[in-house]
Amino acid sequence: MLIKRPARIKPSEITDEALYRDRRRFLELSSKSLLALGAAAVVGCDSNEAVAVSQAPPASAGALRSLGALKSSAFSTSEPSNSFDDISSYNNFYEFGTRKTDPANNSGSLRTDPWSIEIEGAVEKPGRIALEDLMKPHALEERIYRLRCVEAWSMVVPWVGIPLGDVLKRFKPTSNAKYVEFTTLYDPEQMPGQDIPVLDWPYVEGLRIDEAVHPLTILGVGLYGKVLPNQCGAPIRLVVPWKYGFKSIKSIVKIRLLEREPKTSWNVAGPREYGFYANVNPDVDHPRWSQNRERRIGSLLKQKTLPFNGYADDVASLYRGMDLRKFF
Ligand code: MTE
Repeated sequence: MLIKRPARIKPSEITDEALYRDRRRFLELSSKSLLALGAAAVVGCDSNEAVAVSQAPPASAGALRSLGALKSSAFSTSEPSNSFDDISSYNNFYEFGTRKTDPANNSGSLRTDPWSIEIEGAVEKPGRIALEDLMKPHALEERIYRLRCVEAWSMVVPWVGIPLGDVLKRFKPTSNAKYVEFTTLYDPEQMPGQDIPVLDWPYVEGLRIDEAVHPLTILGVGLYGKVLPNQCGAPIRLVVPWKYGFKSIKSIVKIRLLEREPKTSWNVAGPREYGFYANVNPDVDHPRWSQNRERRIGSLLKQKTLPFNGYADDVASLYRGMDLRKFF
């Protein structure tokens, strides 16, 4: 992903000097060990990065709480899932650093219990709700989905979650609810990467309401039958499998229903690179990454990327009549 300079510097204006100054600012901001990760002030991710990048001990699956019985889902793919180690040691979670291994190394500072979510905006029943109360009425489902990052790598992840549409219904969206905005926790003490201005924190993402209530869209609370490890977005994240991974915002603390399209972090950082819709589309390249093929983590060969990440039969109709080159 592009790493943004401080807000006043446009991506197109980046010069060596800006890079130099940003490095200085970065070092000044840093008294924490995380900030020793010099990579943060330079362009971050590289689709050619080695697969087995992690020298860090990944979170151990054994230490995580089991979520008990799960409903299976017809939406699950039969493709083999990536291992727990792949999924928990190769992450994008810039609140903990910009290298793929940083989230696993640095996210121990995130406190996920107690956790609550605020539901705001165009709903009849707004309010703050504790995570356990949010989850209580819903049966947990296993959803084995493909995850496709705009950096042209992919994984298969056995998520545990609940349909977002079922959750939203309980708060009674009004007829003004046309979009949904999601916000990640903002707390630089717990998320030390937020001291570095790579994005305008907190991380914000959004969906159109029909995308949000689509049965494929879930709030993820676990993987491999256990609660989410911190680096994967604990305790609750969005999972929208037909969109690039950056739409799947982690560690959500606020959900706001809106009449207008919300501003979203990556779109603000690089509007020509990251659209609001971000549907996986092999025909529309990112300026730095062809979207035609992808590298499945753990596999040596690249494979073709499918429109809507292989979920076209389920979701293409949501975009009928839209120019997907314009609304990328
Ligand atoms: N959510 C937050 N809050 N911060 C992030 O940096 N990265 C996004 C998305 N959600 C990100 C985030 C990106 S770019 C991707 S590809 C996915 O998380 C990666 O999810 P994973 O690390 O579980 O594979």
